[in-house]
Amino acid sequence: MLSDAARQTQPQDDIATRFRAVRGLSLALAAPLSDADATAQSMPEASPAKWHLAHTSWFFETFVLRDGGTGYRPRDPRWAHLFNSYYEAEGARHPRERRGMLTRPRLGEVIAWREAVDEAVIAALPGLDAAMRDRVMLGIQHEQQHQELLLTDILNLFAANPLCPAMWEARRDPPSPAPDPIRWIEGRHGIVEIGADARNGFAFDCEGPPHPVMLTPHALADRPVTNGEWQAFMADGGYDRPEHWLADGWAWVRSQGISAPLYWRRAEDGVGWASFALDGLHPVRPAAPVTHISYYEADAYARWAGARLPTEAEWESVAAAIDPNSGNQLDEAGPVRPRTAGAGGPGLRQMFGDGWEWTASAYLPYPGFRPAPGAVGEYNGKFMSGQCVLKGASCATPRGHARASYRNFFYPHQRWQFTALRLAKDI
Ligand code: AVJ
Ligand code: FE
Repeated sequence: MLSDAARQTQPQDDIATRFRAVRGLSLALAAPLSDADATAQSMPEASPAKWHLAHTSWFFETFVLRDGGTGYRPRDPRWAHLFNSYYEAEGARHPRERRGMLTRPRLGEVIAWREAVDEAVIAALPGLDAAMRDRVMLGIQHEQQHQELLLTDILNLFAANPLCPAMWEARRDPPSPAPDPIRWIEGRHGIVEIGADARNGFAFDCEGPPHPVMLTPHALADRPVTNGEWQAFMADGGYDRPEHWLADGWAWVRSQGISAPLYWRRAEDGVGWASFALDGLHPVRPAAPVTHISYYEADAYARWAGARLPTEAEWESVAAAIDPNSGNQLDEAGPVRPRTAGAGGPGLRQMFGDGWEWTASAYLPYPGFRPAPGAVGEYNGKFMSGQCVLKGASCATPRGHARASYRNFFYPHQRWQFTALRLAKDI
């Protein structure tokens, strides 16, 4: 389990404890991997685990140890070229789609580099000013984002291996009954405020500033759409009927030959389905939330169901009252798979955990958004084109990282993250 020190609510003066816990979790996640596992790259959007371990160290080395004027000398100045992800202001970069070619430095060298960076950051912390301590917090939150990416990228890599390797032993939940039918819960309407105020604790720049939005009467489903419900959509010809689909989505389905969520495979009987996850290939669990669907699929399902996707503001304005650290999130280096809802209580369930929920909202700047000056200003703002916002958290999100104001974002065809959907409707 993560120590309590790794939780979101921890005061600033425990930043060293939190830093250690988060850096340690990255290593624990990578522990089952061989150097080969950690070096291969399955697709252009996915990065090798070794690259994640190195890039997060580069982030601290550059934006804390260098920018903080600590006198630290980079382990190897040439590595910036390998492990700078996308910061134009930091100079030339190795192409993203060729990260799998980086057989050197070896995994062991990257891990030794991590230790050196950890010691230097811990030693520097007492002397850092408030702005640089905020940078350490940015580095911690950045590392947590890469922990989730490390897991989803390994899942994509292992899914390409016919042996279906499991990252971890499966922990089998007891079979659970079909969940209750969806209950509709009225959302907030009128003028509501969304967005994070950075003075109230860490938030990425794109989460603010706080601002009012106008909502019309609507309701949200009390739980996400399940695998069982998704199979009903499939059985009803959901993937074959263009009337359910956006034009871009239909073109994607046809050109890519899509007929089920990513990682679903026909079971041996040729009738049922199995899905591949970090604990291996297992029968699809009807009562668990469907994951690994694109925005296009989520949107088509919602139209088929006579509903729609929630907007970001509809989602956030009710999620603000829920504990973001509750739910099925990443606690330890153990099996990561969406779970069934369990007994249904009143209210919104599984908002933070299991799967990130696609919203109908584009990832655009909020009114008054200003990226930070310098290279870290490239962190989020420059990606605000053509992407959709996802809210909540997934089973691969490290606990302590989620917030109601959090804005995850992906392109509408992408589905290698734990992406899910919750229905909404006008009332
Ligand atoms: C928010 C997950 C889309 O993958 O680029 C990592 C996270 N930002 N390093 C991404 C991120 C900088 C980001 N996503
Ligand atoms: Fe990054």
